[in-house]
Amino acid sequence: MIFLSTDKHPSPFDIQMIYDAGADHVIYYGEVTPENCKQLILDAMFPRGPEGVKHTAMFIGGNKPELCVEIAEIAKKSMFPPFEIATVVDPQGGYTTAAALVAMVEHCLEKVCGVKPIEVKYAIIGGTGRVGRSAAYLLAKDGAKVRIVSRSRERALKRSEEINKKLSVERVEGFGPAKAPEEIFEACKDVEVVITTGPPGVQLVPKSVLEKLEKCRVVADVNAVPPTGIEGLKPSKKCKPILGNILGIGALAIGNLKNQVEMELIKMALEAPKGFFELEEAYKCARKILGI
Ligand SMILES: NC(=O)c1ccc[n+]([C@@H]2O[C@H](COP(=O)([O-])OP(=O)(O)OC[C@H]3O[C@@H](n4cnc5c(N)ncnc54)[C@H](OP(=O)(O)O)[C@@H]3O)[C@@H](O)[C@H]2O)c1
Repeated sequence: MIFLSTDKHPSPFDIQMIYDAGADHVIYYGEVTPENCKQLILDAMFPRGPEGVKHTAMFIGGNKPELCVEIAEIAKKSMFPPFEIATVVDPQGGYTTAAALVAMVEHCLEKVCGVKPIEVKYAIIGGTGRVGRSAAYLLAKDGAKVRIVSRSRERALKRSEEINKKLSVERVEGFGPAKAPEEIFEACKDVEVVITTGPPGVQLVPKSVLEKLEKCRVVADVNAVPPTGIEGLKPSKKCKPILGNILGIGALAIGNLKNQVEMELIKMALEAPKGFFELEEAYKCARKILGI
């Protein structure tokens, strides 16, 4: 598997995942950009011939999601039959994490709360980031109403408009600025699901806010580094009560599914002769693992 990363040092997380999924060799390149990727992609396509290329796979990752998307677009345009390489796209684990997060929230709503996931409203705090906006995209694509919450109104509006435009819908709204507890409360007071996708070690929702959220049924957080994103939500919680009627899903529970999804996507790419395995394939995979 050829790993093209936008990072200077391609992530050992993904490299180990690729080996554990069954690749014989991982050849990795760092600081890959839309400007320098084409030659690498072409040079990966041709040396083994039409039959050999079926046994080559590619992984596009790194901490710059926009660049990863551009590199993936260049790869799609560069490949043609029979020289196609099965390719996984997962910028800094953002797609597989968002896929696992959304699938676990939907599983909790459907199987434990008895609620249809598209009939409730979601607030995603830190929703402008890699994981948050991918989660917002998946929920909005399914038909749910989503609010992207940010410390900056401008960033919240920008990211929500991008998703609405991509899906040709008006289901995603931006909210900001929100940082102080009273602003976070305003952002969450009318939603059934609160999701936090902030940076490691930053608490975004204090208990004092949770206690006032009358409509909230489920909360989920992806930050496993203490303090976690939601006060009182243990990272290992898996759709279990955390306060009153609120059920919580913690970062380690989500991370566990995320790892299974990434492993499965890589296996699919290693086995498939061609195809792209991106956010939506990761989401299908997460739902399949959970049986929904
Ligand atoms: N559980 C897992 O398996 C797993 C896997 C991958 C990542 N993660 C975790 O997922 C989380 C999100 O990752 P990401 O890659 O999406 O991060 P990211 O792209 O950096 O996004 C985080 C967002 O949080 C907001 N933010 C940043 N600093 C903040 C602060 N000091 N206070 C409040 N908000 C702040 C930012 O939004 P605004 O600036 O617009 O407010 C930013 O867009 C991280 O905690 C990461 O460790 C978990």
